[in-house]
Amino acid sequence: MRWRVENIDFSRIDVQRAAANEDLMLLLCAASFVESGSDLYSHTLIDFFDGDDDFCAWLRDDWEAEELQHGRALKAYVGAVWPDFDWDASFAGFFAEYSRTCSREQLEKTRARELVARCVIETGTSSLYRTIGQCADEPVLAQIAERIHADEVHHYKIFYQAFKRYNQSERLGRYAVFRALLRRSLEIRNEDEEIAMRHVLAARYPGRVGDPQFSARRIERVSRMVMDSLPIDMSVKMMIKPLDLPARVQRGLLAATGWAVRPLSRFLFSR
Ligand SMILES: [Fe+2]
Ligand SMILES: [Fe+2]
Repeated sequence: MRWRVENIDFSRIDVQRAAANEDLMLLLCAASFVESGSDLYSHTLIDFFDGDDDFCAWLRDDWEAEELQHGRALKAYVGAVWPDFDWDASFAGFFAEYSRTCSREQLEKTRARELVARCVIETGTSSLYRTIGQCADEPVLAQIAERIHADEVHHYKIFYQAFKRYNQSERLGRYAVFRALLRRSLEIRNEDEEIAMRHVLAARYPGRVGDPQFSARRIERVSRMVMDSLPIDMSVKMMIKPLDLPARVQRGLLAATGWAVRPLSRFLFSR
């Protein structure tokens, strides 16, 4: 591993400053749940790539270990800032629900397609931690976010290389890759993070359980915060890389999305 959670000095956290940004704390807590449930997904993937020994060894020894470390770092951070939050109890509720979504049926039909989906997920996490780093005005969190971001970009690169390797034999055309990209991008928003956020909100505001409007408002505020700081250029570049578009088309697409994504997201979240 390129860093170790044991080497982060959590006693240096400026607790008051961190606690002042409740929306960011909600997001960190939800992220700590998803990261800490990574072993479910890694077991499913290892099973799916059975026979590819080097790749399975990387999934088991590097990828899973790093994702779980992300979970431990974020959990420790949440514990320092919200000492009264019962992380273990809330995580147990999340895990019971989340584990039902991590079956083999959720994977794509072929290995190359699944690797495209993994690129989408790692694009999402890379963008998320870059955003968290930018929103963080607390130095320890900024340090953790930077380390996790670097890991997620590294994961993306490994999945992308594996995609290219498998696609030499599967020969997916751009349309098939695009469909896999789109399918997973649409799924991303309403699964992992949404389940996690629901459990975090229930534990943080027990008096508001059963008030869906309250939850919707909090989730909307967190989503806005993320969209306002999202590194759009980086996200789009990573997302479209598997399409292997000519450089001229890529530049045009980047310019168009930079112009359209933020106003579009404001419109969506304002409804
Ligand atoms: Fe992660
Ligand atoms: Fe990752």
